[in-house]
Amino acid sequence: MAKKIQALRGMNDFSTLDTVVWQWVESNIRKTLSSYGYGEVRNPIIESTALFKRGVGEATDIVEKEMFTFTNRDGELITLRPEGTAGCVRSAVEHGWIYNNEQRMWYMGPMFRYERPQKGRYRQFHQCGVEVFGINDASADAELILLTANLWKKLGIDKAVHLEINSIGGQESRQKYRDALVTFLEQHLDILDEDCKRRLTTNPIRILDTKNQDIQAVLNNAPKLHDFLNEEEKSHFAELCNILDSLNISYTINQKLVRGLDYYNKTVFEWITSELGAQGTICGGGRYDGLVELLGGHSCAGVGFAMGMERLVLLVQAVNSDKDFANAIDIYVVNQGDKAKIKAFELSDIIRNNLPKLRVMQHTSGGSFKKQFKRADKLNAKFALVLGDNEIENSEVILKDLQNNVDQMNIKEDQLIETLQNIFYKG
Ligand code: HAM
Repeated sequence: MAKKIQALRGMNDFSTLDTVVWQWVESNIRKTLSSYGYGEVRNPIIESTALFKRGVGEATDIVEKEMFTFTNRDGELITLRPEGTAGCVRSAVEHGWIYNNEQRMWYMGPMFRYERPQKGRYRQFHQCGVEVFGINDASADAELILLTANLWKKLGIDKAVHLEINSIGGQESRQKYRDALVTFLEQHLDILDEDCKRRLTTNPIRILDTKNQDIQAVLNNAPKLHDFLNEEEKSHFAELCNILDSLNISYTINQKLVRGLDYYNKTVFEWITSELGAQGTICGGGRYDGLVELLGGHSCAGVGFAMGMERLVLLVQAVNSDKDFANAIDIYVVNQGDKAKIKAFELSDIIRNNLPKLRVMQHTSGGSFKKQFKRADKLNAKFALVLGDNEIENSEVILKDLQNNVDQMNIKEDQLIETLQNIFYKG
């Protein structure tokens, strides 16, 4: 046998059993987004590297060390998208979708980051991202949070997640805070690890979400970001909190929540679960009012989030472990003989066309009736429709309930649809 070739590290294959859960999650997401009036955009998976360097930020982990970057045949530097916001904004600017226009958009698809794989963290993963353009008011931030809260209920995971929010202000406030934080941390250089020492010069605010507990203890006495916000930023955040309180959406304010991408200002938020171990953030986002301009557009407010689909699916499976996501086969069409085979093709399609909600699978690999019924059992089919020489002769079919111990029925061919309708659609 030839040597097997394996998938690349951090890349997953999903079986037909896995995708049943994915499809269930995706369809709930699509329905929810549609019910809020959001529309789908589709962007390329590859963009020019410059987009992410400028959009996500040179001093972020993503751009510094996680991008899959290549030179194409023309010598152009291109990158597999590590996230969706930069590409979405690029497309909106390029085509004028947000010029003087409010827009509510979403996208779903694969993203790529060269990270160390572990449960919930992969090199190819999937996001569903949602972006709202042209609305300065905190109502847009609140709408996004409300939308996610409703989605968690539909997915049955609302009891397993909690919301953290923060305001990181605008550039000016952040610069002042950054200076104060650096001055504070310079008095504690002895406890900083190598990574934090490096960040002290490149991106000091990111030190706030270090996992190092000793540094976290020192950070408890560090200057607080909210003391540096201006009045407008403070009132924007107060308005968001006010709406969330009025809608009974619980949250904690985490002043150390700063997010790993450079485009954010004002609101940032994350939905976190403790069910998945270290990779517990299932959804993260915030406001990015300067990004459209940074990428060559006219000034335009933006706010959005992305959910990690793998983490959502893992959480849905962990919380709903008893739920049967699979749509079992409703009717397995058992057939023997050449005429019965052709009739099986015809009747299967007649059922599918008349009763489109039913899942009808035809047995196509021959063999005894016994073998065919075994296959139906393996598929957990609800009914078998049986066609043999006798049935063809009498223009009949046999319908056998495979899950309840009741007598099989002989049904005239022209009565079949009505009978199935009574069984599957009534009661
Ligand atoms: P992010 O926090 O980098 O934000 O990613 C959003 C979510 O994607 C994370 O919360 C996580 O669930 C999932 N995720 C990230 N990296 C991985 C990975 N290596 N493996 C599995 N899942 C992962 C963004 O990407 C922003 N573009 C979100 C946004 C949209 N902000 C505003 N608009």
